[in-house]
Amino acid sequence: MENYWTTVILVFLLAAIPASFQYYSDVVAAYNRIAIDCGATKITWDNITTYAWETDDRYIQSGENKLVSISTTRDEMKTLRSFPSGLKNCYNLPLKTLSKYLLRAGFLYGNYDNLQKPPAFGLEVQGNSMNVTVATSLSNDTIYHEFIFTTRKKGNVDVCLVQTQVNQVPFISSLEAKAIDLENSYRFMTENVALYLQSRINYGANSSVPERFAYYVDPYFRVWKPELVPRYRNIDNGFGPITWEWTEIENDPPNVVLDSAIVATNASDSESIFLPINFREKYRVTACFILYFDVSPVQQFVEETSKLDIFIDGQLLNTTQIPRVNRRVVVSMCPVNITGGTANLTISSADNATSPPFLNAIEVYSVIGVSKAAPSSTSLSVLGTFFGLLMCSLHVFL
Ligand SMILES: *[C@@H]1O[C@H](CO)[C@@H](O)[C@H](O)[C@H]1NC(C)=O
Ligand SMILES: *[C@@H]1O[C@H](CO)[C@@H](O)[C@H](O)[C@H]1NC(C)=O
Ligand SMILES: *[C@@H]1O[C@H](CO)[C@@H](O)[C@H](O)[C@H]1NC(C)=O
Ligand SMILES: *[C@@H]1O[C@H](CO)[C@@H](O)[C@H](O)[C@H]1NC(C)=O
Ligand SMILES: *[C@@H]1O[C@H](CO)[C@@H](O)[C@H](O)[C@H]1NC(C)=O
Ligand SMILES: *[C@@H]1O[C@H](CO)[C@@H](O)[C@H](O)[C@H]1NC(C)=O
Ligand SMILES: *[C@@H]1O[C@H](CO)[C@@H](O)[C@H](O)[C@H]1NC(C)=O
Ligand SMILES: *[C@@H]1O[C@H](CO)[C@@H](O)[C@H](O)[C@H]1NC(C)=O
Ligand SMILES: *[C@@H]1O[C@H](CO)[C@@H](O)[C@H](O)[C@H]1NC(C)=O
Repeated sequence: MENYWTTVILVFLLAAIPASFQYYSDVVAAYNRIAIDCGATKITWDNITTYAWETDDRYIQSGENKLVSISTTRDEMKTLRSFPSGLKNCYNLPLKTLSKYLLRAGFLYGNYDNLQKPPAFGLEVQGNSMNVTVATSLSNDTIYHEFIFTTRKKGNVDVCLVQTQVNQVPFISSLEAKAIDLENSYRFMTENVALYLQSRINYGANSSVPERFAYYVDPYFRVWKPELVPRYRNIDNGFGPITWEWTEIENDPPNVVLDSAIVATNASDSESIFLPINFREKYRVTACFILYFDVSPVQQFVEETSKLDIFIDGQLLNTTQIPRVNRRVVVSMCPVNITGGTANLTISSADNATSPPFLNAIEVYSVIGVSKAAPSSTSLSVLGTFFGLLMCSLHVFL
């Protein structure tokens, strides 16, 4: 009997020691930013963001490195990691605890397996509170899935690729996480929800404007899709060295993004800007709309203060005034119920305003409820924490 208990205690202690070391190493290595070039064998320098993409072997043990068989301008998309075995394969990212992060996973099939069969599979982040379907394609464009969320007490976040259909092998091309550390950013997001990106558009910018910028231009390494809307005036101030910095307004969008806009063609009446916004979810969801207005590029069309009515699916949700002198306004509308599929955004001149409606940029998210229930692996980590503290006090005691 004595032997039995000695064995139990020994086994318990032996199990606890690696757990506590794991805990300490997580705390020490908690990252503000991670950029992973999945499936790569060497570090990739990114001359746009002026940061490096690291290899993924520190974050995952399973899967196979592959090369795409098409040409792509973004180096980190040339390699990927595929997961022919196991239903679920996970990256483990050492992020800071209880912090807001932006996390983006990139997928470019690029016919890497020579089968011309782009797979569909699941992507799960932090337990399965954020789980979505990734449907890849034969297109040369990268498909991104992006979330803004708060990490749990256990800072480490699992990002899992899940096989959901027979013979459809999951893969991933890039994985990035960046702490949202400026106070005025995405302030309406609480710990219990995650934001799932639907659309982030730089209006009035043509395809020669990059989607990404250097760190000192966009503190969050966001991807802003340039878009011209032919039925409106597309105004671009150009993109000069003066604007190479981020703004200090809500969410800190890059100046270069606010330097272009769409303006309704008719200044003399109340012609509206009408933009259907596509949602990945084809069912009823709650959404957040963030509209960025900056008078600077459209000054020639705007008289004094602009007064704009903003409607979603025909419902007036905000009337905002954009003074010509104070020029910048961010309007966040959150939460908004959406029937799913498409939401209609309409911006009109309010009252008798003489200025035409305009819009510089937009971000649209759907809201995912995040249960606080810990995933099963957390119990181990709680043990790790406990023994970490125990070891700490032992240390003090000795
Ligand atoms: C980045 O590198 C690529 C290829 O090496 C080059 O074509 C491109 O012009 C560079 N971009 C910048 C902004 O320096
Ligand atoms: C994708 O890339 C391949 C090879 O680089 C090229 O032949 C093809 O035309 C491209 N397809 C599209 C839709 O751009
Ligand atoms: C997400 O998880 C829930 C619960 O496990 C499941 O019902 C749902 O089908 C999953 N969604 C996707 C897109 O995988
Ligand atoms: C894109 O817009 C910039 C700034 O207005 C302009 O200088 C450039 O000529 C445009 N490029 C194309 C291909 O239209
Ligand atoms: C602008 O609105 C006026 C009055 O509604 C109309 O007569 C005119 O044709 C419109 N101009 C354009 C370019 O749409
Ligand atoms: C959005 O606008 C389109 C075109 O006007 C219309 O058919 C559709 O019913 C609108 N959707 C909603 C949800 O209002
Ligand atoms: C409309 O947006 C402005 C600017 O963000 C904000 O100050 C105002 O409270 C909003 N109005 C409503 C009715 O939500
Ligand atoms: C959105 O829908 C929920 C339930 O479906 C309802 O309780 C809530 O009041 C709605 N919110 C708005 C702003 O309409
Ligand atoms: C709009 O202008 C008309 C005529 O100038 C005036 O009668 C009306 O009161 C104005 N409406 C508002 C809301 O200012």
